[in-house]
Amino acid sequence: MKARLQEMLDTARTAIAVAASEIQLQDLRVSLLGKKGTLTAIMKGMGQLTAEERPLIGALANEVKSELETLIGMRRQELSDEEIASRLEREKIDVTLPGRGTIRGSKHPITLVTEEITEIFTSLGFGVEEGPEVEKDFYNFEALNIPKDHPARDMQDTFYISDDVVLRTHTSPVQIRTMLRQPPPVRVIAPGTVYRRDSDITHSPMFHQVEGFLVDRNITFGDLKGILTTFITQFFGEKVGVRFRPSFFPFTEPSAEVDIACVICGGKGCRVCKNSGWLEILGSGMIDPEVFKSVDYDASAYSGFAFGMGLERVAMLKYGVNDLRLFFENDLRFLRQF
Ligand code: PHE
Repeated sequence: MKARLQEMLDTARTAIAVAASEIQLQDLRVSLLGKKGTLTAIMKGMGQLTAEERPLIGALANEVKSELETLIGMRRQELSDEEIASRLEREKIDVTLPGRGTIRGSKHPITLVTEEITEIFTSLGFGVEEGPEVEKDFYNFEALNIPKDHPARDMQDTFYISDDVVLRTHTSPVQIRTMLRQPPPVRVIAPGTVYRRDSDITHSPMFHQVEGFLVDRNITFGDLKGILTTFITQFFGEKVGVRFRPSFFPFTEPSAEVDIACVICGGKGCRVCKNSGWLEILGSGMIDPEVFKSVDYDASAYSGFAFGMGLERVAMLKYGVNDLRLFFENDLRFLRQF
């Protein structure tokens, strides 16, 4: 029995040393020391031993057992150290690698020009107002001296929600809403979205305008020219040519459209300015006394001017964009340039 125990210890030693995983080691332990294991099988022979041999063999069996336990324990520790080492190797992070970088969003060009225009006018003492995009016929037309069957309604192809409600065709209704709310003096701009039934290369059914108006005592056409010229040179640069051209709007008298020298050809004439050398950017005029009547302002004591500017138009000119549709397609290759 002594020899068998010794032999078992020797074979087990090699088996433990080559066990490749915790599971293998556990199986090995069961087959060596378990109830049906080798050691138990050997010990079954105890009955045939003499009374003197029995305690000696018993002690030896215990030694073998504890030796095996120790060996298994050491191997288990080894295996787990190896596993940790290999995980450390596998999961190593190279902190010196450059980061992947995130792409930051950018402001839409229409937002950019709205902000810049707002900044210029607030520095000139203007406040900012807003109005609803779904608007009463009264504010969009009636109070602006455009009665129901007035031919001027043809100038603006209107989306009607009902007989009485429209999608606003311009930001001018904000003039009415503001003046009804507060007495003069007023000095306000109103940026916003407007709608017209129009869709081609140069027209979108939804676009943006900034309205501006100023009412006080003794306001003249000279003030209109001064403010707008100041704005245009700040926005487009000192050297840009500006021209005021007589025009007509039902809510202003006299009226003027304002052109700037073509930013593409510098005024020589090209396809963009249709060889005129000029580009129209806004409509303006002295507020018609009829408008003052509908908001209960005293036209004999006060006067004022108003203007309305197309934002897609000025953004195209400022950034050299040649197709209006680019503003609405949300193509990131376009938007990321701003
Ligand atoms: N509301 C006019 C338009 O959309 C522009 C304008 C505003 C003209 C204010 C004169 C005064 O065409």
